[in-house]
Amino acid sequence: MKLLKRVLRWVTAAILLLLLLALLAGFIAYWRSTNDCKRYTAAPTSPMKAIVYCDYGVANLKLEDIEKPVPNDDQILVRVRAASVNPYDWHFVEGTPYIMRAMGVGLRKPKDTRLGVDFAGTVEAVGKDVTQFKPGDEVFGGRGGAFAQYVCPRATRAVALKPANMSFEDAASVNIAGITALQALRDKGKVQPGQKVLINGASGGVGTFAVQIAKSLGADVTGVCSTRNVDLVKSLGADHVIDYTKEDFTKSAKRYDVMLDNVGNHSLSECKGVLTPAGKYVLIGGGGAGDQGFLGGLGKALWAMVFSKFVNQQMGMMMADANQKDLTVLADMMQSGKLKPVIDRTYKLEQVPDAIRYVEQGHARGKVVITVE
Ligand SMILES: NC(=O)c1ccc[n+]([C@@H]2O[C@H](COP(=O)([O-])OP(=O)(O)OC[C@H]3O[C@@H](n4cnc5c(N)ncnc54)[C@H](OP(=O)(O)O)[C@@H]3O)[C@@H](O)[C@H]2O)c1
Repeated sequence: MKLLKRVLRWVTAAILLLLLLALLAGFIAYWRSTNDCKRYTAAPTSPMKAIVYCDYGVANLKLEDIEKPVPNDDQILVRVRAASVNPYDWHFVEGTPYIMRAMGVGLRKPKDTRLGVDFAGTVEAVGKDVTQFKPGDEVFGGRGGAFAQYVCPRATRAVALKPANMSFEDAASVNIAGITALQALRDKGKVQPGQKVLINGASGGVGTFAVQIAKSLGADVTGVCSTRNVDLVKSLGADHVIDYTKEDFTKSAKRYDVMLDNVGNHSLSECKGVLTPAGKYVLIGGGGAGDQGFLGGLGKALWAMVFSKFVNQQMGMMMADANQKDLTVLADMMQSGKLKPVIDRTYKLEQVPDAIRYVEQGHARGKVVITVE
């Protein structure tokens, strides 16, 4: 008995010591966490304007003169004419959900101090291995650091020729939201003509693309939005619109083959309840800037992985994969008039903090665009 007690004491002490060491390591890692902001103190030899942030928080976003990028052999130099804002951007600005920080985004300070992804602009120079583009081409796509006068995407990645009939503002709004809507409906939802599709959050960035893409796939589309957006969602082609301030779609008897969830404001069992027996629930995201906590929307995504094992329907999250092929699919749809981006507001590059604050409120109507001079 005495020996058992002694062993228990040692095991407890060892566990406590390990916990203490882990805490200490976390504390040291937190305070050592830093970024490359010092490089912005030196005057750039070939300057361009860009939004940078050395610490988390919208108040720390600054418009600075920084070094203009030079394309590598496989990159193109794009003069950015417009960019667009996504919830993705405020996740990085705020460093939330906090698990992101532990996953490499930067514990105390953002490791990557540049912001923005979606852009449209004109090719100014190409690397020596680039064959797809030439100077003068008008392109659109996604590349980190897009809230700037120049970006250097790799020519084979998320960049495609902009349709001639499209403005830079429209083209800049496409990458994340359009690709997400396309891949969620076509690849994850496998939407077939005649199927019933429900889009929760039909009036936002992803939703406005999703309504139009679901229609072009031949679906019978129901969009969920608030009163002020009912006409907008109808004008995008939705067959039915549910005003969430008046009606809760999870209480209705109507069943859907595919539900796209851009809001995540209903439980998984409520969402399962609106699906047909072989229906699919595709979680895109959800949760406002103010309620991210440690896991944010990832909590629901993890729960969906478990939950879906016990139900007949397929339920899970999808992560968009921006690529040239799908940007070209979207470009073709826009060129032929099947898809038209919805622009809510336009801000200038120096107004990026205001644009981020607006998108953080969670009530954008379509996309918020940044114009770059
Ligand atoms: N998984 C991925 O790869 C991926 C890719 C892109 C985006 N996302 C995530 O997907 C989510 C949506 O992105 P987004 O770009 O569409 O965001 P967004 O543009 O900020 O969406 C705002 C829209 O949400 C609507 N909304 C708010 N509360 C609602 C409710 N209770 N019911 C229905 N609609 C509601 C708002 O309409 P009202 O003003 O009418 O309320 C507004 O139009 C975000 O969480 C984002 O982080 C994930």
